[in-house]
Amino acid sequence: MRRPTRIFTLCALLGGAIAIAGSAAAQDEKKPDLAKITEAWLASPHADRSAEAFKHWNDDEDRVVPGECATCHTSRGIIDYLGTDLRAVNVIDQPQPLGSTVDCATCHNSKSMALQSVVFPSGARVDGLGKEAICSTCHQGRASGAAVTEAIAGKEDDVVAGDLTFINIHYKAAAATQMGGVARGGYQYEDRTYAGLFVHVAKEPSTCLSCHSQHSLKPAPLEACITCHEGAAKYTDIRTTRIDVAGDGDTAQGIAHSIAALHRMLGEAIRKYAVEVSDAPIVYDAHAFPYFFADTDGDGAVSPGEAIFPNRYQSWTPRLLKAAYNYQFVAKDPGAYSHNPHYAIQLLQDSMADLGEAVEIDLSGLVRP
Ligand code: HEC
Ligand code: HEC
Ligand code: HEC
Ligand code: HEC
Ligand code: HEC
Repeated sequence: MRRPTRIFTLCALLGGAIAIAGSAAAQDEKKPDLAKITEAWLASPHADRSAEAFKHWNDDEDRVVPGECATCHTSRGIIDYLGTDLRAVNVIDQPQPLGSTVDCATCHNSKSMALQSVVFPSGARVDGLGKEAICSTCHQGRASGAAVTEAIAGKEDDVVAGDLTFINIHYKAAAATQMGGVARGGYQYEDRTYAGLFVHVAKEPSTCLSCHSQHSLKPAPLEACITCHEGAAKYTDIRTTRIDVAGDGDTAQGIAHSIAALHRMLGEAIRKYAVEVSDAPIVYDAHAFPYFFADTDGDGAVSPGEAIFPNRYQSWTPRLLKAAYNYQFVAKDPGAYSHNPHYAIQLLQDSMADLGEAVEIDLSGLVRP
């Protein structure tokens, strides 16, 4: 089997076109094409100055990006962060100026390129990484299952605790998904085992750069995937898992579909539990902070005026908080099916099973990977 890293890197360099190069052309390829690299970066989300991820602080009175956000949201914050002893996860003590992006200097400096270890919000440290360490520093989320464990300590599973608030993983924490049980980004239930690092191709742990171009950020073109994943017309068609994880008899569609089905089921289970145990109906809005709101009219959907901060959900029990945390963990990583499908499936299934201890939930047919 060919090593996919090489294939993907080549594809990335060629902007998606797979060229069969003669030796003279191969010589040229060795010389990086700065114009092409710059163009790819400019078109990528990392260079998008207008994105909320870069302009969020523009109207703040202080006119800076605070240290607890600057490591991941500015050009130079990560360089300052890497100059510390890395004890406070992704927090620096000095703010950074407004208006920068994730640019050439963010990654191409001696500290970022030499980085080999990443500390995750759970405190887990992963060593021996390559150039993807820099990606995993920013794409690791800001919370972990440990934060949930801490919040619910000493509380009864099914009793509403007024001091509990929703705990949010943050956005697109691909590295937390990919590292699975190693980084413990999800809420992992006791006495269960969880998938660790997603080893994509035999003996070759998947690194961010084995799929994503470091400059365009796009995953390698589908042609590079179907050499192994025959017949897939989209990334989301890919499936190697043979068992019926969603209990719907569907083992032919892509694993992304099964994850989406389980995610919907967990959403229903959360709503059912909120009505029957918390005695306060709940709704979820993916785009409004803090995501879970009181379903004031009890219609099971987000109605106008419901998804506002003052109406945030405030009837959390420990059991509900654990499930909601995992629901959001999977929701906020749209690439979870490629980053670590079995970890995502385990979190969703276990959350449902746990809610099923308190309310009736149909788990028949679900097979745990
Ligand atoms: C560990 C790195 C990290 C830290 C620290 C961090 N973020 Fe983020 N944040 C990210 C990443 C990665 C995204 C990318 C989301 C995407 O691709 O859309 C993001 C996205 C966002 C977005 C955009 C969400 C959207 O809807 O597009 C906002 C707003 C945001 N973060 C606010 C904050 C604030 C406020 C802080 C500090 C209190 C903070 N972040 C700290 C990594 C971080
Ligand atoms: C998000 C991080 C990141 C950003 C932003 C970034 N690069 Fe890179 N770049 C990388 C990584 C990772 C590599 C691969 C290094 C390796 O394999 O040794 C790389 C490789 C390169 C190379 C070597 C040829 C290649 O493509 O492998 C050049 C030249 C380069 N980058 C220039 C730039 C320029 C110019 C910019 C800004 C327009 C930029 N990079 C922005 C991460 C980044
Ligand atoms: C300094 C922090 C930082 C580093 C380092 C970083 N990213 Fe990002 N990344 C972000 C932020 C912030 C965004 C959101 C940008 C936006 O919304 O336009 C983002 C966006 C992305 C996206 C697009 C997500 C979307 O919403 O469409 C991908 C894919 C991505 N990064 C992959 C990578 C990879 C691969 C690397 C390593 C080569 C990397 N990132 C390194 C902070 C970082
Ligand atoms: C096995 C291939 C693979 C690996 C390995 C991988 N990704 Fe992905 N990633 C994907 C695919 C496929 C998507 C979904 C892209 C799409 O829908 O366009 C994705 C989505 C993403 C997104 C969200 C993009 C969006 O459009 O919202 C981010 C951010 C991201 N990946 C970052 C990373 C980081 C950081 C790593 C390493 C920790 C990584 N990925 C490892 C294949 C991979
Ligand atoms: C060299 C062969 C090879 C290539 C190329 C390859 N994959 Fe894979 N892929 C595998 C193998 C083997 C597995 C099974 C891994 C496992 O479950 O341990 C897998 C599993 C997956 C899964 C999970 C499927 C499931 O049902 O759990 C996804 C998603 C995936 N690959 C996406 C991609 C994407 C996206 C690309 C292209 C960017 C790609 N793969 C390229 C060999 C490959």
